[in-house]
Amino acid sequence: MKTLKIGVLASGRGSNFQAIIDSIETGYIPARINLLITDNPNAFSIERAEKQGIESLVMLPKNYVSRDEYFSDIAAELRKRDVELVVLAGFMRIVGRTLIEAYPNRVMNIHPALLPSFPGLHGQKQANDYGVKISGCTVHFVDEGMDTGPIIIQAAVPGRDDDTEETLSERILKLEHKIFPEAIKLFAEGRIGMQGRKVVIRGAVFDDRPLISPPLGRDLQEGSEEKGPACDGL
Ligand code: GRF
Repeated sequence: MKTLKIGVLASGRGSNFQAIIDSIETGYIPARINLLITDNPNAFSIERAEKQGIESLVMLPKNYVSRDEYFSDIAAELRKRDVELVVLAGFMRIVGRTLIEAYPNRVMNIHPALLPSFPGLHGQKQANDYGVKISGCTVHFVDEGMDTGPIIIQAAVPGRDDDTEETLSERILKLEHKIFPEAIKLFAEGRIGMQGRKVVIRGAVFDDRPLISPPLGRDLQEGSEEKGPACDGL
């Protein structure tokens, strides 16, 4: 199989970047990462790239007169390295038109909520504050909206009564590290197609088992009303 050439954009710690590196290392994804671009000179992602011998560039928006110019320069750097798929691994900016036009349906993002719910910053906090009983993460193609592009893969976790933003984020992050490499693998294998705005995966076998949260038939013994986090009665 052909090796897919990837470019990664990241602003921070880069745990998703690392999960992608690891999946390539083990041969799970037939790809190589040709370039890391970051908008943050202190991003830990830079060290991850160095360790792996991946070239990295720090590109600062303040050095550009407009967003369009910034992202067209990013597109140019990616193109120079023959990048075929752009992966946003915790890139904390809205991607400009010029990059999306250069890579239509070839820019992927991971979002820590089940889109279209809770787009934007702090998806996990939004979900926890709202009190949803099922939350999760989404890998999608990037369009010009805020987390609005076609959805490739999603994974769900229960929202627990005793969750905090941190505990929910931790549970979601574990799944992010699974589904982001998976989406890239599907792309690399040429399994992703489009039907209008809907992504279809060639060869996918779907599992119809539901996730119900809280689960049915849970133990509601005498006296268990007292258990669980502090709350107001009805
Ligand atoms: C992740 O939660 C991702 O969903 C969001 O930004 C965070 C990046 O984390 N887009 P990391 O840098 O990959 O560890």
